[in-house]
Amino acid sequence: MKNEQWGNRTGFILAAVGSAIGLGNIWRFPYVAYDNGGGAFLIPYLFALLTAGIPILILEFSIGKKGRGSAPLSFTRLNKKWEWLGWWQVAICFVIISYYAVIIAWAMSYTKFSLSLAWGDDTKGFLYGQFLHLTDDVWSIENLQLHIIIPLALTWGIVFITLYKGVKTGIEKLAKFAMPLLIFLFLIITFRGLTLEGAVIGLNHFFTPDWSKVWDYRTWMAAYGQIFFSLSIAYAIMLTYSSYLPEKSDVNNSAFITAFSNSGFELLAGITVFSVLGFMAFESHTDISELAAGGVGLAFIVFPKVINTLPTLNSLFGLLFFGSLVLAGLTSAISILEVVVAGIRDKFDMQRQRAVILVSILGFGASLIYATGAGLYFLDIVDHFINNFGVVISGLVELILIGWFLNLKALRKEGNLTSDFSIGRWWDIMIKFVTPAVLLFITIQNIMGEFE
Ligand code: PHE
Repeated sequence: MKNEQWGNRTGFILAAVGSAIGLGNIWRFPYVAYDNGGGAFLIPYLFALLTAGIPILILEFSIGKKGRGSAPLSFTRLNKKWEWLGWWQVAICFVIISYYAVIIAWAMSYTKFSLSLAWGDDTKGFLYGQFLHLTDDVWSIENLQLHIIIPLALTWGIVFITLYKGVKTGIEKLAKFAMPLLIFLFLIITFRGLTLEGAVIGLNHFFTPDWSKVWDYRTWMAAYGQIFFSLSIAYAIMLTYSSYLPEKSDVNNSAFITAFSNSGFELLAGITVFSVLGFMAFESHTDISELAAGGVGLAFIVFPKVINTLPTLNSLFGLLFFGSLVLAGLTSAISILEVVVAGIRDKFDMQRQRAVILVSILGFGASLIYATGAGLYFLDIVDHFINNFGVVISGLVELILIGWFLNLKALRKEGNLTSDFSIGRWWDIMIKFVTPAVLLFITIQNIMGEFE
């Protein structure tokens, strides 16, 4: 039986915010928002935050605090038949961490490249050619690339050491150091971005609403997807972190603080990225919509180009930007892996250190698939299925089981007892009806999408 706990409340909140703020905020949010109507996206986004993000966060915090264990154990304690849901979430986390670590490794390499602007003028050719060595030859082992494996090993090393040290001296300590530093570094980039010539063009594009998109259900799907990914909900991450809370902790308040900090940072990242894109559009006389094209390209093709074009201190800007990606990614990566570590520990009654060694070795091995020349193809496919099915279905099942087969009102009242403010009946309605209905709709659309 384990009895680890957070040192204090700030530590827990910083760790939760550290999990939430990740690659999803810095490179995913800006292009998702842009693709889905710019300023108009903020309406479905806020709606998803209030109807799904915050309610599910409160739910996961409550279940974790009450269950005092990993996802499988906490669900078993609610109902013996629910253990599999916990394992489903553990499995999702294992798959995600194996490619999430690779993106952090890329960002590490690009931090180093910033020093000499090693990517040259053709940043696209550099990424796909020299750096990733993209190839269709999927099964060729010789494709394993040392220059990606080294930063990957470093990433796994940091995750390993942090988790090995435990909740208080590992995770909490790292979060208390990394989160303030990340915000400080990122504010410098924001300031630089906003003072660049052309920044206004970018901001105009970002905030000018395309209202027709609000009437498109796909925009709403994207908004829900972004909230789930960005807030790390339905992955059992927040549940696992809250299992280390003392009994008297205030989960309602912590959920609001976590959610608003995450969205605040997300908005800041959107503003920063678009002011920088505005500058680039201005300098190169290109249309900004071409620059904002999403995916890997935004951070690893467009940003290096921007860094080349900056009037001064190019390398410093690159260091700050890619360094921020690494920091934001690492605090998220440890939270994803902790779900797996906790699951294994509880099930096999294992010591933390042993579980961390086992899971890290397996995870590093799985990561190597993405360090081959076909890595990007694998990454796209796996990411697509995990995010369109794995997570949405996990969220849907979680809400149906807990909302319909558990005394939700009692759970809410219990949480209210130790909280600064009380959650009302609206919460039950979200968990029971509104959010499951939306997730069911998204699942059906996703399944139909596979056959189109
Ligand atoms: N929420 C984090 C992000 O925005 C990390 C994360 C990603 C967590 C995917 C779970 C799943 O990047």
